[in-house]
Formats: sequence, C-alpha cells, structure tokens
Amino acid sequence: MRLTGGLFVALATVTMTAVSAQVKLTGTARGYGRHTTGGGETAPIVPASPAHLAQLLADQHPRVIHLNREYNFKHTEGTTTALGCRPPSNTCPARAGAGGGGGQDAINAVNWCLPSYPKVPVTYDTAGTRGMPVAANKTIRGIGAAAVIRGKGLWLNSPNVIVQNVHITDINEQYIWGGDALYFNDKSTNIWIDHVKISHIGRQFLALDAGVVPRHVTISNSEFDGRSAFSASCNGAHYWTALFLGTADSITFHGNWLHDISGRGPKIGGGPTTTTTTSKTKLHAVNNLWSDVPGHAFDTHDGATVLIEGNFFKNVDTPILGHAGSVYIPATKNNACRFSPLKRACVRNNNILATAGMADVAAAAAVAAAFVDEAYAAPITTGRLAMADVRNNAGVGKI
Ligand SMILES: *[C@@H]1O[C@H](CO)[C@@H](O)[C@H](O)[C@H]1NC(C)=O
Repeated sequence: MRLTGGLFVALATVTMTAVSAQVKLTGTARGYGRHTTGGGETAPIVPASPAHLAQLLADQHPRVIHLNREYNFKHTEGTTTALGCRPPSNTCPARAGAGGGGGQDAINAVNWCLPSYPKVPVTYDTAGTRGMPVAANKTIRGIGAAAVIRGKGLWLNSPNVIVQNVHITDINEQYIWGGDALYFNDKSTNIWIDHVKISHIGRQFLALDAGVVPRHVTISNSEFDGRSAFSASCNGAHYWTALFLGTADSITFHGNWLHDISGRGPKIGGGPTTTTTTSKTKLHAVNNLWSDVPGHAFDTHDGATVLIEGNFFKNVDTPILGHAGSVYIPATKNNACRFSPLKRACVRNNNILATAGMADVAAAAAVAAAFVDEAYAAPITTGRLAMADVRNNAGVGKI
C-alpha cells in the first residue's frame, strides 16, 4: 500500500510521542525466548489499515508496529463455500434458525474428513484460513487495551518476533480448520508472545508445527479464553488450544491464564501422524493458571520433556492425560530438583491431586536436568503467588 509520505511521517511522529511512556514498560522475555529483540529501537509505526498492517509485517525491514485500534480482516478476501464434513465429535450440530451455536463441523483441509464422515456444505471467511506472514525482526505491540486483530491470525515463519498486548479473535470459530491464531512455521525461533489474548478461533490458538529448526520461544502473561458457542467438545469450551509438535523446540510458558478450554491445553510431543518424525519439545510451564476446564489441560506424548511447577489448577477435570514422555508435575515441594541444574526445590502445583503428580524422585531430577541450557533462568515465583495474581496480570490492557 502507498501512503502520502508527508502525512504518514507526521502521524507516526505524533504516535511516537504519545506512546513513549508505554514503550519503556514492556520489558524483555524470560526463559527460552530471552534473546528476542523484535524490531528493536526502530521508530514505531501505526498501520493505517488492515492491508497496511499486513504489508508492514511481511516486508524485509525491522519494524516496531503499534496497534491502537481494531484491524478487521473479515470479508477482505471474500467467502468460500465448499463441501466439508461433520465429524463424530459434533454431537450437537447447530439447528437451523437457532441463532448460532452448536458443535464444530470441519473444512476439509489436508483431507482431514474421513470417508465415513457425513458431507456438509461449509461457508467461511477466506481471510481466516490464511495467516498473515510475519518476516524477521518485528515487534507488534498494542497500545492500551484497544489493539485487536480480527478475522486473521499470524503466520510466524521467521526469527525474532515479539507480539505483545494484542487480542487476536474471531477466526471462523464454527469450523475445525477455520484458521489458527498464532501458527509457528519452521524458522520461527526467538519468538516472544506476551500479554496476548486469544478467543473465538476455529482451529488452534497456538500451533508450533513439526519444523526441524530448533525454536526458542517464550509465551507469557497471556489469556487463552476458550468460551465458545461452537465447541468441538459440545460443552461451551474450546478444544484446540495449544499444539507443540516441534522436532527440537524449547518453550517457556509462564504467567498465562487458560480458561474454559476442553483440550490440548497444551498437547506436547508425538507426531501429526504415526508415520512422521516424533517431536522433541522441552516445555517449562511455570506460574500459570488453568481454570474451568471441562476436559484436559496437558496432553503429553513421546518425545516431550515437561516440567510443570508452581501452577494453579482450579476446577480442571483432567490436569494431565496420561504421562507419556518425560514429565514431572509435583504435587508437593520436591527437593530432588536441588541436585539438578535448577539448584532449587521444584515448586508444587496447587489444587492438583497427589495422584496426578509423579512421586519418583529420580524422574524429578532427570526432568529438571533437561533445563540445563546455558544461562536459562527459570522465571518462577517460588514464594507466595495467588491465583488472582495470575488472572489479573494475564491478557491485554495490563501493561
Ligand atoms: C534481522 O536482524 C538480523 C540481526 O540484526 C539480521 O542479520 C537479518 O538480516 C535481519 N533480517 C531482516 C529481514 O531484516
């Protein structure tokens, strides 16, 4: 998009002055995403339109992009009507004229619809199924509580990107394969997702694909709001929360609030199919809150190395599905971790049944030892942290 040069520069200058106070407050990532610098000290730009936002994200310049309003991508790429399907999970299909609501039917992406699934017509917003490519060295930062990206997600395929204080919402919520909010492709290392909110999405809130490049990522202080009238599990809670399938990823997940979700919160390890490479993801989940989960939070598979400590589980049906992979989730304080590179006791999780934890001390030290990386600083509050602290801090409009 072309803008009148003079006018645009003037607007950008005004914006810079107005937001300079907030810019200083944004901090740096802790944990595996700590080398992320995004657009660095580049002068901030406020995109003039959704198309301008897409252009700034995709170009080959370092950018600090400030969002001070809603950028609505719905209806910008037309509507697609096709033959999809009704999977067996949709036991509560929407009734005609019922004013919305019901389970999720599926768009037949990646030939997902099995021949046994009844065919149904699907009509969806095309923009939602195509994430916006994000090039290297970008900061996308909301100002105040106003930043919304509606109807389209981000397709992270390059290193060094910060997404902070932005609400991503409303992406073909009624359809499986309707679109992801944040999709991480092969080269998306050094990514920091902070104070983001995600809601009303058809497919994944977060998806790290099986990319072969080792990715270092921090996801912090974010709200994953699964309340939905189109739940794949037919219980008002979004199923497709977070998928960590990387072949060699290291992820720090801290200070997040996940609520009203029913599955994959997150799913770690395994492979997309039995014939693909097993993923090897290392995940440190600390000081997060899961609340009102009519389903499962963690779903761990072979290849996952997961340390889950200092979290809250409130009204969660199943904090963890099985224990495949190498997982440690202490229900009591565990001093064995002192002998690991963490050099401190592992911190117990709250409101979790002792039976959901692993009592095996050797397993505790072995899992903790995986977090040996040079200078890895576990961002954990070992003392008193209240559930309300996590809830009040997570999401947009808090920084
Ligand atoms: C991003 O920044 C790195 C480090 O400064 C640089 O090597 C690389 O070329 C930059 N990429 C782009 C697309 O600007």
